[in-house]
Amino acid sequence: MPPREVTVKAPATSANLGPGFDIFGLALNYPTDKVTITLTDAKPSIKIEVFGVAAQTISTAPERNTAGVVANQILREYGLNLGINIKIEKGIWPSRGLGSSAASAAATVFGLNHLLNLKLSKEQLVRFAAKGEVASAGSAHADNVSAAIYGNFVIVKAYNPVEVIGLKAPPDMEICIAFPQIVTPKGKTVKARSVLPKVAHLEKVIYNTGKVAAMVSGFYTENVELIGQSMSDAIVEPARAFLIPSYVQVKESALKAGACGFGISGAGPAVIAIVNRKKAHSEKVAQAMKESFEAAGLDAIAFTTRPGEGVSLMEK
Ligand code: HSE
Repeated sequence: MPPREVTVKAPATSANLGPGFDIFGLALNYPTDKVTITLTDAKPSIKIEVFGVAAQTISTAPERNTAGVVANQILREYGLNLGINIKIEKGIWPSRGLGSSAASAAATVFGLNHLLNLKLSKEQLVRFAAKGEVASAGSAHADNVSAAIYGNFVIVKAYNPVEVIGLKAPPDMEICIAFPQIVTPKGKTVKARSVLPKVAHLEKVIYNTGKVAAMVSGFYTENVELIGQSMSDAIVEPARAFLIPSYVQVKESALKAGACGFGISGAGPAVIAIVNRKKAHSEKVAQAMKESFEAAGLDAIAFTTRPGEGVSLMEK
């Protein structure tokens, strides 16, 4: 008998890394979600349960949950008549810019691929998972889901159809994440996308293209300093910074504490700092970021992590 149940671990991810809007993604070693997928005879129906961090803020309606959207898409595309139960145990804070919805989508398509023996390639997994992102972000951006599936650093080389290039991250690269405990509006990512300019000046495009190219070079040559310096962004960061209280101060304090790069994590409000562990202490940088938020009267969570692997099956 083929297995009827599988448990999948999916990583948090940080999208954009400065100039790579909708193109760059980085998988984080911590935090992760655990998703258990069970095939049932209650056909055709999708049931979702959510536990863990801020679970009460996540919809369990299949059409409004990225995991449900992905499962439904697979049932329809393969003409399958079966039930699917999805139990999501959140370790990733939702609505912070840490790829929480992408993790659920990636885990679901990865788990169903295994259970149903669909033999989907990594790129095909990304295409399904990106459709789930429409439910939470209003657009099928593939940066978070690609990083969640491939692990490490990804470049979304093309959309329509999605094509992805995956690269290893340098062993000396450490990451600090911090976010203020603010209430984000419903449709947070949709709103954060609506403040972006529709057109960019050639000057800014030249600036960002240089940084994007340098970033890729930084990953190829395992140069953490170059990766950090390349996070500078002339288009999206200036338009979104005002959405994150104390953004400028937190950035300043992270760089002063030794980070070599800083930016908004995805659509925020989390921020990400890159640390070269040969040159600075990530705990010190994370603490400086937290204190900087707190100096403005905001409760904040900060932690250190490093680049991580993509989705994987968990042993029972
Ligand atoms: N690239 C997307 C954005 C990521 O910045 O809107 C959202 O998680």
